[in-house]
Amino acid sequence: MTMNRTALFLILSLLWLGGVLRAQSTVAASGTNVPTLTLETGRDIFEAACIGCHGPGGRGQPQTTLGFELPATFPDFSDCNGSTREKTYDWRAVIHEGGVGRGFSEIMPSFAEALTADQIAKVMAYMREQCPEPEWPLGELNFPRALITEKAFPEDEWLLLTAVNASGDGRVSNRLFYEKRFGARNQLEFAAPVGFQAGPDGWVGGVGDLVAGYKRVLHSSLASGTILSAQAEVAIPTGDDARQLGSGTTLFETFATAGKILPGLAFVQTQSGVELPVDTEKAPRAAFVRMAIGKTFPANQGFGRSWTPMFEVLADREFETGARTNWDIVPEVQVTLNKRQHVRVNLGIRQPVNNRAGRSTQLVFYTLWDFFDGGLRDGW
Ligand code: HEC
Repeated sequence: MTMNRTALFLILSLLWLGGVLRAQSTVAASGTNVPTLTLETGRDIFEAACIGCHGPGGRGQPQTTLGFELPATFPDFSDCNGSTREKTYDWRAVIHEGGVGRGFSEIMPSFAEALTADQIAKVMAYMREQCPEPEWPLGELNFPRALITEKAFPEDEWLLLTAVNASGDGRVSNRLFYEKRFGARNQLEFAAPVGFQAGPDGWVGGVGDLVAGYKRVLHSSLASGTILSAQAEVAIPTGDDARQLGSGTTLFETFATAGKILPGLAFVQTQSGVELPVDTEKAPRAAFVRMAIGKTFPANQGFGRSWTPMFEVLADREFETGARTNWDIVPEVQVTLNKRQHVRVNLGIRQPVNNRAGRSTQLVFYTLWDFFDGGLRDGW
């Protein structure tokens, strides 16, 4: 009997507490001067709730009108270079949770109480319209990067990729990538490999063949959910081939990358191309096809950390007579490290499925930093 009374008391207290909390959050929401809105179009909503800070057409209010110091990352929604690379999915998180939800300034308020999901969708569509130039690929087509399969979206990024032999000969290879986007559809890429391997006299290491590449987006469409790019690269023989750090010859590589949106934050990405060494005695000519399929699972109803398990299938074939195709599979998981989600890691295992002699299972991982979204220490 006493147990039942205690339970009843507890339930009533919880109900009361819930009521108080809800009442308080309504007060807090009306305290920010954002009344519950019953507005129809995206433009109406924007002009009622956002224009005070974001200005006409999302171009920002002058500093003098604002009365607060603008953060360096303050957006201009009419600037295609900044606005098109964002996903509306990420905008939605900022609008719903406020700036703090994604490691941005707390000046950007939360509209979780003031706007319905439908109103947020409408205002985001209006924000998208502020960049009228269709040649800019949209952030929705910027899929999480797989470990081996390269992506089609042009990036501003530093990335350090490491592969460690888990069987066979001891070997650790690192590759530092710098990717710089320019204009709507172009990107330059530089890669510096650094390798270490176990020899009879202990471990030896050094710089491998430096790579420079150029990527161009050939097609992108949100309507069909597809993006297609072409890339050309040259690797110059800076690495010592006697120590297996380089191929010993200049090598040209060209490939196409494509990505497609699948339902429910899932995607598929492919990369296919050829490697053409100048001296085929030193390195074989080869062709490759790679595919990555994955799906993002965001924590906290879509507002939290993003987990993206992916699965890659890789096929490589040298052009010599009788050469067989090497097949590998790579199960992996990418996860966002900070709130702003511009620092991410990916960890996987590259497993050869045939021709295993001389081809080791590898532990592969990367850390990437999208430097357009802020400094390495911002947004945590
Ligand atoms: C009180 C001023 C204020 C109001 C009102 C406001 N914002 Fe913001 N908003 C900001 C500031 C400041 C930032 C920049 C935060 C940063 O970069 O640290 C921001 C950032 C954003 C971003 C992030 C853009 C990016 O770079 O990813 C989105 C999206 C956004 N606001 C949408 C809205 C919408 C939609 C409304 C109206 C419903 C709105 N804001 C109302 C101040 C405001």
